[in-house]
Amino acid sequence: MSLGMALPKAELHLHIEGTLEPELVFECARRNGVSLPFATVDELRLRYVFDDLQSFLDLYYLAMGVLRTARDFTDMTDAYLARAREQGVRHAEIFFDPQAHLSRGVPLREVVDGLTASLRTSEQRFGISTRLIACFLRDQGPDEAMATWEALRPHLGDIHGVGLDSAEVGHPPQDFAPVFARAREAGLHLVAHAGEEGPADYVWQALDVLGVQRVDHGIRAVEDPELLRRLARERTPLTVCPLSNVRLRCVPRLAEHPLPRLVDAGVLVTLNSDDPAYFGGYVGENFAAVQRELGFDDAAMREFAANSFRASFLPADRREAYL
Ligand code: ADE
Ligand code: ZN
Repeated sequence: MSLGMALPKAELHLHIEGTLEPELVFECARRNGVSLPFATVDELRLRYVFDDLQSFLDLYYLAMGVLRTARDFTDMTDAYLARAREQGVRHAEIFFDPQAHLSRGVPLREVVDGLTASLRTSEQRFGISTRLIACFLRDQGPDEAMATWEALRPHLGDIHGVGLDSAEVGHPPQDFAPVFARAREAGLHLVAHAGEEGPADYVWQALDVLGVQRVDHGIRAVEDPELLRRLARERTPLTVCPLSNVRLRCVPRLAEHPLPRLVDAGVLVTLNSDDPAYFGGYVGENFAAVQRELGFDDAAMREFAANSFRASFLPADRREAYL
């Protein structure tokens, strides 16, 4: 097994709906009586070629339409945890998209019960501690985000943070200041996707207006030297997803990924898989691809793994036990 696979690591940027493998899409469709616009698993897999973030999101939202019951969410999460364990994951901070299920008439109770039924026993079964982060869909606007916050309130015992995801360009972080202020008042952790397809200015907004503790992706920060200095000085982590960035054409090829420039600028970078069922690899494959294509030595790979714990929302004593 490669070093990248074997290293104990935390995964901090993982959409649970993006772990839905084609076989489980068909299994859930069958048991829920949902008809799909593809005939076979192979036909679905052939659609995993994307031009940009939106072309991926179209398929991502379509495929998750098969998730209807708590059992579907439990099975999906169990499958992810089993794969993650094989890839050295010891801790996972997992995103889910409440609005993508509420809008289809699936009650939030069903979603949260399904996810937590798996996560509750993850440490015993897989040796993976977990946190759950609810993301607002930025393309659905700030009013719907606030309504979603209200729907989440009865479930806050199971939710540790909020994030911001979906189509980025034209949906700046600053629009979501009110709902992030509510989440901060409630004591939740705050993260946001910014600088994936959107400009470096969105990363500034995520920091200054939303007050996030980590930036998801953040790769376009390389275009702004002052922002790089700020991220490095304040040790604000970026949760970078190298295979995702190539598949969604944010970066032309892995050899041209800005990761080395972020590292050289002193930014605290972590490696993650984003939506591993769609992007050709789980977190271990992201580690292995980065080492192969960008030439990082073993010490640098160990540093990425250490950063994943430093950047996690584990309490300090548990973080330090991994370092
Ligand atoms: N939702 C799932 N994956 C995403 C990504 N890479 N960017 C924005 N929203 C997402
Ligand atoms: Zn993401």
